[in-house]
Amino acid sequence: MKSDIASRLNRPLTIGRTTIDCRLVLAPMTLLGHIAFRELLAGFGGYGLLFGEMCSAKRIPGEVRTRSAYFSWRDAERQHLIIQIVGADPTTMATAARIIEENGLYGVDLNFGCSVATICKQRCGAALLKTPDQAARIVETVRRAITIPLFVKFRTGWTDDPDVPVDLARRFASAGADALTFHPRVAPDRRSRPPRWEYIKAVKDAVTIPVFGNGDVFDETDCLRMLETTGCDGVAIGRMAIAQPWLMARMTGLLSPDTGIYRRTAFAMLDLMKKHFDDRRALRRYKKFAHYFSANFKFAHSFYTRIGSARDLEAVKGELETFFSSDPETTARPNMNFFL
Ligand SMILES: Cc1cc2nc3c(=O)[nH]c(=O)nc-3n(C[C@H](O)[C@H](O)[C@H](O)COP(=O)(O)O)c2cc1C
Repeated sequence: MKSDIASRLNRPLTIGRTTIDCRLVLAPMTLLGHIAFRELLAGFGGYGLLFGEMCSAKRIPGEVRTRSAYFSWRDAERQHLIIQIVGADPTTMATAARIIEENGLYGVDLNFGCSVATICKQRCGAALLKTPDQAARIVETVRRAITIPLFVKFRTGWTDDPDVPVDLARRFASAGADALTFHPRVAPDRRSRPPRWEYIKAVKDAVTIPVFGNGDVFDETDCLRMLETTGCDGVAIGRMAIAQPWLMARMTGLLSPDTGIYRRTAFAMLDLMKKHFDDRRALRRYKKFAHYFSANFKFAHSFYTRIGSARDLEAVKGELETFFSSDPETTARPNMNFFL
């Protein structure tokens, strides 16, 4: 099974004028998919593309790469990095996309999936799924502004009806998107119900551009099942890639993790946070990472409570030393209470 999934994933895929050599990608995640985490992931490998944190299109022109907390990258990751932008105005989105292209990054992703109230109130993110003409106008305008690959990430919409994402997918493809990432949940659902993978198949069957399936892929079995049952071209992994940053390397046959990987990863992440962020930001982001990472352990609550109440990075380090002083028991499947 392991070699089966690796050979399915390690196959070239053409996206726009480019070809990637692996069909597994990191899904975009605010406060999680930052430069430090991506450097950690790069140490393991096993991915074709990395989606960074969501960036407000309005703010991109004022961001300075060396000082920005989220619009920042390492030179070495340029050819794999996609910046996700969120906004409601086509021209503002196009300006941001052009800046991303000028910086030599792989691609641009349009966020049509975020359903948090502050974003939707501004008619951005998943709110755009209620106004498909406006969403398609954004795709068209951004398309005209850039030559690098253009992705759209979206959800089922606001009602549980597969015809809605099928119609949206067709509109995005004809407006010029090069690939889609589809998360088959309705917009108000913050991952409390299982995603409806059968809708991924419906979306895939409706368009000729590549479709990345997304939602609740936690291991090789899930990944193979998603590929086989939906026919999707690739798979975007979110939370489980945070909990196990070596997961994509394992799935693509690059490594077989040993028991020491949890300890090494916990400390390596701390060092990378210090390298890329000031203490306050590093602490906040480490706690967010620790929430998902803790899902690996039988005593997840104990791990997370210790890290969550640490006052500073030194305290985090002390807590890690204590926790890993005796080999912590790990779980075969992640503790889902930590995964919402
Ligand atoms: C903490 C967190 C932050 C997220 N931020 C974003 C985001 O900024 N943009 C986006 O398109 N999706 C975002 N997502 C959704 C993920 O990209 C993904 O669609 C979702 O987690 C389902 O995939 P998974 O089951 O592999 O985690 C976020 C998810 C989580 C858990």
